Amino acid sequence: MPRKPFICGNWKMNTTRAEAVALAEGTARAAADTPAVEVGACPPACYIEAVAAEAENTPMVVGGQNMYFEAKGAFTGEIAGPMLVDLGCEYVILGHSERRHVFGEPDDLIARKVKAAFAVGLKPILCVGELLEERKADRTETVVRRHVTSGFEGLPKDQAARVVVAYEPVWAIGTGETATPDQAQEVHAFIRALLAERYDADLAQTVRIQYGGSVKPENAHDLLAQADIDGALVGGASLKVDAFSAILAEGARARGA
Ligand code: PGA
Repeated sequence: MPRKPFICGNWKMNTTRAEAVALAEGTARAAADTPAVEVGACPPACYIEAVAAEAENTPMVVGGQNMYFEAKGAFTGEIAGPMLVDLGCEYVILGHSERRHVFGEPDDLIARKVKAAFAVGLKPILCVGELLEERKADRTETVVRRHVTSGFEGLPKDQAARVVVAYEPVWAIGTGETATPDQAQEVHAFIRALLAERYDADLAQTVRIQYGGSVKPENAHDLLAQADIDGALVGGASLKVDAFSAILAEGARARGA
């Protein structure tokens, strides 16, 4: 079974409510135009419900940008998995580099969130990726191995198959700098080999691995044409319907659709 590409917008801490609704409406329309690609949007938590309303009866799926591992309780400022489900989410981004490096989330916390996501039926988009100094020190594989191993720790095969991995080299996020298709492909193949080692070849062939980091209409085709790049997690360019629609069209073209 070929892996269906998955291109998902990560809106981060952007948009007003009205902007979120307009963006959702345009993104859902673009999703309907590119059936070969699964299309998602991860709005700020406070606008998920409004975006999910726009997604209804369209092929667009909705995700949260983060969650806590407890289902409820005295955790001021946090959002729980059951709440994301209640609002209409199917996915949740976990371990995004901004969570890891701006908010100091460690691997073991992210691993608990992955398990908590599955416990409520959410599919995690598990972000992994090295900092610039780690790449320069030739530690990319060490760091990515640690993120992947920890994120999949204790997951049975049926759950592991539903994880979406997002390889996001931190030096390429929001910087305009993109990994070359070859650089990205090399790490994607490494991640797939890790999954084959940890589970088996079938599982490794099932898991979708997105690329993230300054994806735009100009580079989407060449990235998604790589054998192990199964989609994209898109920040800045997902905030404009035109740019995101063009990325979806390029992604579909890369897959010959
Ligand atoms: P960017 O963000 O596309 O703006 O680089 C990607 C991400 O952080 O998911």
